[in-house]
Amino acid sequence: MKKLFGIFAGILPCLMLSGQAQSDFVPLKELFKKDFLIGVAVNGRTITGDAGKMVIENFNTLTCENEMKPQSLLYFRSQRPMGAPPQGGQPGQPPQPQGGQQGQAPQAQGGQPRQGAGGFSQGPLKLDTINGLVFNWASADRIADFARQNKMTMRGHTLVWHSQTPAAFFTDDKGNQLTKEQLYERLRIYMTAVMNRYKDVIFCWDVVNEALSDSPGNLYRTSSKWYEICGKDYLAQAFRIARSVNPNVKLIYNDYNLVDPAKLDRAVTMLKELKDAGVPVDGVGMQGHWSKEVTAEMLNTAINRLAALGLEVQITELDVTTYSNYHGEGGKNQVQETQPYSKEVEDRLADNYKTYFEVLHKNADKITSVTFWGLHDGISWLNGFPVRGRSDYPLLFDREMKPKKAYYSVKSVYVK
Ligand code: GLA
Repeated sequence: MKKLFGIFAGILPCLMLSGQAQSDFVPLKELFKKDFLIGVAVNGRTITGDAGKMVIENFNTLTCENEMKPQSLLYFRSQRPMGAPPQGGQPGQPPQPQGGQQGQAPQAQGGQPRQGAGGFSQGPLKLDTINGLVFNWASADRIADFARQNKMTMRGHTLVWHSQTPAAFFTDDKGNQLTKEQLYERLRIYMTAVMNRYKDVIFCWDVVNEALSDSPGNLYRTSSKWYEICGKDYLAQAFRIARSVNPNVKLIYNDYNLVDPAKLDRAVTMLKELKDAGVPVDGVGMQGHWSKEVTAEMLNTAINRLAALGLEVQITELDVTTYSNYHGEGGKNQVQETQPYSKEVEDRLADNYKTYFEVLHKNADKITSVTFWGLHDGISWLNGFPVRGRSDYPLLFDREMKPKKAYYSVKSVYVK
């Protein structure tokens, strides 16, 4: 008996290590198994050690935080000397995170992130030249292999975006801007290489990210090389090329703040036009960088209006800031100091999460996946965005990777 107790006492601390081994903890993938796939954005560090174990226990789909963006996959001579590893802190790239903390994301116009933080290529390069484009597969391969080994699926993120795409993607060797036709040809080469490489593990691709304007009266984001060279036509072309490369993968349009009534109107107008023209869009990704201002009604309306277009809905980048809505105004009118994680903050976050998951659960027939943007509060990009140096608490797990009250409020939607 004594011996048995000894063995048990030895095991106990290990079980407590992840913080989730508490008897009332149900892994997220169990909670949501009848509703939708549940995912998390990862980088090279979050798939190792205790974080990696936690990812395996809780999720069945992964998104690369940065590693499948053109800026991470492409290796242009003009931007990085051949043979030199990509470095954080280069123009357009966030700094490499230190000690498990993510780097600070740069402020973006319109209060929207231009790029996430951390997770760029580390370790040996894996270079490959395909039809004139040089790829470095190292970081993306590592995450795709992790997904394969653990029988997870992935969301591909992202093919066409105004941000985190090397400037050299839009120019020829001499630095002259490509014509529309040349750019589409380059896009075809890029998509063919990337989509085929990961086609066994990726179930959907964010084909176009953030093409919509934030200003009333404008439908499209015009401050984009894509728009500048091709006009709005690049959206339809991107989806058509993607479909021709892979007829089986789901093709998604992804954007932020689609719960905002004005932006939702713009999204519905744009997506309806694409659908009416026979463009192969299968679904819409609501990024879901939400805040307490997002109500159940706003979320319910957005899901239903988008689904009514014949699109599947995905929540692709879920986190809930404990500060105010940063869309539109950015950090400007925000509280500049870190607020303590008080009981009030904790309770409100738990209420917000419960409200959102009640709506998601009710609409589960229209939703195919929900992905959190980060594993735990300690590595959220919102530590530093939109206010530099400010900490946030936007996820279900705290900095010690323990489930928060918000986790239990979500659980209560499923386990009565
Ligand atoms: C956007 C992008 C993501 C990421 C986040 C910020 O929402 O789609 O890839 O960069 O911003 O982390």
